[in-house]
Amino acid sequence: MHFPQALLHLFLTLTGSRAFTVPARVTQNAPACNAAAIRSALKAITWDSDHAESLKPEYWADLAQTNLDWFKDFSVTTSGSFETGDVKWFEDGQLNACYNALDRHVLNGKGDKVAIIYEADEAGDVTKYTYSQTLARVSQIANMMKSEGVKKGDVVTVYMPMTPDVILTMLACARIGAVHSVVFAGFSEDAIADRIAAAESKFVFTTNVGLRGGRSIPLKKTVDNAIEKDRAKKFVEKVFLFKRTEEEVNFVEGRDIWADDLLAKQSTTCEAEVMNAEDPLFILYTSGSTGSPKGILHTTGGFSLYAMHTTKTSFDLQEDDIYACVADAGWITGHTYICYGPLLNGATTTVFESTPLYPDEGRYWDMVERLKINVFYTAPTAIRSLMRFGDESPKKYDLSSLRVLGSVGEPINPAAWDWYHNVIGGGRATVVDTYWQTETGGHVACNLPGIHDPKAGSCRGGTYGIDIGILDPQTGQEKVGNDVDGVLVIKKPWPGMARTVLGDHERFMTTYLQPYPGNYFAGDGARRDEDGYIWVTGRVDDVINSSGHRIGTAEVESALVADSSVAQAAVVGFPHDIKGEGIACYVTLNNGLEMTDDMKKSLKMAVRSSIGPFATPDLIINAPALPMTRSGKIMRRILRKIAGGENEFGDTSTLADPSCVPVLVENARS
Ligand code: WT7
Repeated sequence: MHFPQALLHLFLTLTGSRAFTVPARVTQNAPACNAAAIRSALKAITWDSDHAESLKPEYWADLAQTNLDWFKDFSVTTSGSFETGDVKWFEDGQLNACYNALDRHVLNGKGDKVAIIYEADEAGDVTKYTYSQTLARVSQIANMMKSEGVKKGDVVTVYMPMTPDVILTMLACARIGAVHSVVFAGFSEDAIADRIAAAESKFVFTTNVGLRGGRSIPLKKTVDNAIEKDRAKKFVEKVFLFKRTEEEVNFVEGRDIWADDLLAKQSTTCEAEVMNAEDPLFILYTSGSTGSPKGILHTTGGFSLYAMHTTKTSFDLQEDDIYACVADAGWITGHTYICYGPLLNGATTTVFESTPLYPDEGRYWDMVERLKINVFYTAPTAIRSLMRFGDESPKKYDLSSLRVLGSVGEPINPAAWDWYHNVIGGGRATVVDTYWQTETGGHVACNLPGIHDPKAGSCRGGTYGIDIGILDPQTGQEKVGNDVDGVLVIKKPWPGMARTVLGDHERFMTTYLQPYPGNYFAGDGARRDEDGYIWVTGRVDDVINSSGHRIGTAEVESALVADSSVAQAAVVGFPHDIKGEGIACYVTLNNGLEMTDDMKKSLKMAVRSSIGPFATPDLIINAPALPMTRSGKIMRRILRKIAGGENEFGDTSTLADPSCVPVLVENARS
């Protein structure tokens, strides 16, 4: 389609928009054929040139200058490359992420605006915190940390439930230049100990217990057990302990600190530390195909700008919006899209402590109605699990406030997309499918609301600043044009990308930058369809995506072989109606042992306690022998098919012993 140039010019003149300003509100609830609809049509037409502009460093320099407050301006926008693995943004600039998320808004007269809406575990138990209140408490936490010896550059481990304090603790770290390492509160004591040890973290934040779905979760006890392990014990000096309930817990004199008591004595002002743009803001551990989890490191300037910009543009965020991302702060989604992105924009963000099924399957929709949520962000697995209950529950609630419905974690299947759009969004709200990763810091591909027509199941293509390529996995040659498939790469550095893996830059290089030189390799396969839309086809490495959680098969395998009954284990993902992928474990037991139901239960428990409940295997399959090639490589392709209930396994002639296949098929069904 061609839009008359004169009209376009008139529009740009009238609105004063330059190619690289953030679009004004483009989604709305009213029917089409009005100013907003015309504006969105124009935006769609100008998208290609907007996008081309956004690939230039000047785009980000301009945004950084206009959207963030700097203590010292930067003179170099970006340097380094994928080849050399030393990408930097705004490197000689100085700023503070917490100052930008809080102080700036208070100083701009927004102190009384609600920053955080806390929807506690019991429905309707709501507390609101203004920007001024949030800043005061963050400053107190920051002062408390300083008084207990936390210094700039120290890694602070945060193992907390979804109360505002988890967000405030992250911001307090940012304020004093400490590096937070949030560990999802569903991780086991072993996983916490590993992360404390890997980051040599001297300080831990936790609460006596967490509350979720009416249940009390013994977080402090898990932290105590983690710190009892030698690898963690040798680092941890102080444990800051918040009170979620009055429940009594073990208290270690000299090490543990009742945070609520101590911080009440602190001043409500605390100067924000001057940070260099490339100073670390946080690390977050994530699973890969091999080895132990990687401490993905994000930096202050680039991450902040990217979090802010993608929150604004992907969700068409407006000044008066009530915004709710119902992820957990323990994952990157919580970092970027509950904490930093919304607050850097001066928006109102929601901290949701409960589960989608408590007290019943209407919890989200009840909350949307009560809080009048405009932007709602969740994962396909949650949508699928709620869809199963039918349309009655959402229909009981007034969901007309919803304007944008975000989706994250895996491709959203068309049935879930339709339900989200029509039953939840009343056919009005735009579904935005956001593709990204812990390592990308923020969204890298999505359909932008009001700009791109969505297609159910496709994340469309690169957002501002992101140049996506599809490469032939074997030759590394780019596949240009439409109707192609291969591996997904990003061709140019962007501000929000991770800079390294903590303590192992070599691993950063070999995992992301060396597989396809000159590109960032995401680890996903993708197809570009005949209209140029990208469809992510899933991980091309041995990583399972179960309920939106990223689980390394190697980690599950090592949890299993650590059990004295196990001789060998191979773990694969298989299609699962609700979770996207389920976890199937093929286990060869030691001689003389039998795969009873009790044995299966105890193996599931072994994985649970080694990683966490979210990694509990769906299937334990007795495997007297595994399908190996003659060179001793396990043929996972066959294992995936067996677990998925398929009967065709392709060519099995390269197997050392094909007779193991029917045995596994039989065992998978029993
Ligand atoms: C992996 C990243 C990003 C926050 C949540 C998970 C998959 C994520 C989508 C999407 C298709 C997606 C990819 C990616 N993924 N979002 N919209 N469509 N796939 O973060 O734990 O770092 O996992 O999740 O496979 O590589 P993560």
